[in-house]
Amino acid sequence: MTTPDNDLAKIAPDALTAGQARDELARLAREIAAHDAAYYQADAPVVSDADYDALRRRNSAIEALFPDLVRADSPSGRVGAAPSAGFGKIAHAVPMLSLNNAFGEEDVFEFVQRVRKFLKVPDEESVFFTAEPKIDGLSISLRYEGGLLASAATRGDGRVGEDVTANIRTVKDIPHELAGNGWPDPVEVRGEIYMSHADFAALNDAQQEAGDKVFANPRNAAAGSLRQLDAEITRRRPLRFFAYAWGETGSAIADTQHEALERIASWGFPVQEFFRLCRDGGEILSFYGELQQARPRLGYDIDGVVYKVDRLDLQQRLGFVSRSPRWAIAHKFPAEKAITILRDIEIQVGRTGALTPVAKLVPVTVGGVVVSNATLHNQDEIERKDVRIGDTVVVQRAGDVIPQIVEVVLAERPADAEPYEFPQTCPVCGSHAVREINEKTGKVDVVRRCTGGLVCPAQIVERLKHFVSRNAFDIEGLGEKQIALFWDEGLIREPADIFTLRARDGADGAVPLKEREGFGEVSAGKLFDAIDERREIEFDRFLFALGIRHVGETNARRLARAYGSLAAFLDAVSGEVDRREDMIGELSAIEGIGEAVAGSVAEFFTEPRNRQVVDNLLDEVAVSDMAPAARNSPVSGKTVVFTGSLEKMTRAEAKARAEAMGAKVSGTVSKVTDLVVAGPGAGSKLKQAEKFGVEVIDEDRWLALIAGA
Ligand code: IVH
Repeated sequence: MTTPDNDLAKIAPDALTAGQARDELARLAREIAAHDAAYYQADAPVVSDADYDALRRRNSAIEALFPDLVRADSPSGRVGAAPSAGFGKIAHAVPMLSLNNAFGEEDVFEFVQRVRKFLKVPDEESVFFTAEPKIDGLSISLRYEGGLLASAATRGDGRVGEDVTANIRTVKDIPHELAGNGWPDPVEVRGEIYMSHADFAALNDAQQEAGDKVFANPRNAAAGSLRQLDAEITRRRPLRFFAYAWGETGSAIADTQHEALERIASWGFPVQEFFRLCRDGGEILSFYGELQQARPRLGYDIDGVVYKVDRLDLQQRLGFVSRSPRWAIAHKFPAEKAITILRDIEIQVGRTGALTPVAKLVPVTVGGVVVSNATLHNQDEIERKDVRIGDTVVVQRAGDVIPQIVEVVLAERPADAEPYEFPQTCPVCGSHAVREINEKTGKVDVVRRCTGGLVCPAQIVERLKHFVSRNAFDIEGLGEKQIALFWDEGLIREPADIFTLRARDGADGAVPLKEREGFGEVSAGKLFDAIDERREIEFDRFLFALGIRHVGETNARRLARAYGSLAAFLDAVSGEVDRREDMIGELSAIEGIGEAVAGSVAEFFTEPRNRQVVDNLLDEVAVSDMAPAARNSPVSGKTVVFTGSLEKMTRAEAKARAEAMGAKVSGTVSKVTDLVVAGPGAGSKLKQAEKFGVEVIDEDRWLALIAGA
């Protein structure tokens, strides 16, 4: 592909700047998607497998170095070269849950106590627990109907997984037909797909030899091998299975967890041999100790021990909290650690503008994986640990978790190491970056954020997607996909560009929209028309569309109502940074607008780049004024009758205010009347109100009622 970014393709991943990495990831996503389409849809690959894999490897390498820049449409999300969209979906009859974690002995004793207390078990009575290894693979649910394998699904989000039936049929550990008889019908057997250490090593050797993708660990290898669109590839991969649970069962499976597993084993499934029935926390912990000893000899990865209440009737009584069972817990093994040197601290900017410090390390192997980046979380964390560039640091990695810096080895600190100064401006766009006051806690937020949302290349694509979303500009035919495409093509860089698309279409020899992939004459025309239709927009939608932090729909409406017109609002929020305090004072006087909201509005508009973007946009669109009707007032939708003489306002005034708040004002009391406001001298209407049981209040109570609205 001949694009101007081709130069970038020559730069090694770790020599890329964040900006270059972003562009390169975009290019790779496009190129890999094109190859995927050629391969899967057109059955006509245009590159060799090795070249294709090299692209994917490069993509993964850059993603590993710049985790913040991973795209929503990243090719690595589609494991094994196959778009996950290629799998059908299966809704789990019984959700696939996750487990709560215990990280130390105390957590385990607490778990045992919690269970006993919940069940009100007397001290002298035992509650038995099963203990078994927690296998580090991916969970799967196998459905048997009439004893035959009917379907297999990945966990997915727990409710809906991917249909991997064809692939699962190639896994030798999994019976196509249940052995024995008397199995429940249907029955769903659940467990873990994994790869043994030996098989993993052999697979990686073969992959390397063939110039193919090398997997980082057995779990990735298992996942990548299972989620292949071509089940023949899965067949050649040495996948294995352990059963440890079940989903829907046509009849009761057993009385206890250990008997259930024995039954499942009798149907032909492998179950773990390292398994024990324990009567208390002490026995549980000695099993944990033994397993930790045995871990290196198991031949496959485990990341802890799972304890489950043995009696199924007790499991039933214990039930679930959110998405984990109360009757089970995963006791994790401690994280693995290593020592290395901190070369640099890089600030990455996420899609929400969060500035995240990333430690660039001299590469070191931690738990079998080479680590060259670690998260430093935030500014406070760096200060608390006093991490300095050049320091020798202890790095820790636990399972999936991003590697972390645990501590500094002070004895090794170079004499000239300086305390790290966290930047106050965004390294991507140069806008000021602030730490907000958290509205709820009143404390300074740990995250420093770039305020240049609409100008910051790290954030703009997300902001543009928000800008065109349904409750914002709502432009038909211009969704997330098109925004991403137009961004990649350089057609849209800021909101105003959307409205000049038609005028610029095909200019300077560029390919006109109607000739681009996914568009034709009609759809291009329609899109331009849809854009033109939104050249006039309500004030509140406009404010919401800007994507200012904390300004959701409700706050946008509050602000719009308070000022009535954009002009009046801009007047209030214009000025230099030194006016910020005044602005915050004025804005937070508005009902419902707190300091945090006021602060971020002020931050947004005092950033000159944001103002420029808004002004550019206003060259293209007109913002209509906002009627101050309080649709959400306490009297909205109610029918109100005023009677007697009012002392603090005229009848006409009272009526106008009530109507402005969404109430309906009527002259007669009937059964549909919600409220009667009675002043001195009220007569027959008061009687009517009593007759119909309508609430009657005086003028002061009425004023109090409508006060805040
Ligand atoms: S029991 C209702 N047992 O751990 C709980 N899970 O964090 C069902 N896992 O998604 C799970 N080994 O992928 C259970 N012996 C074991 C396990 C195990 C590994 C995984 C499983 C699950 C995750 C929960």
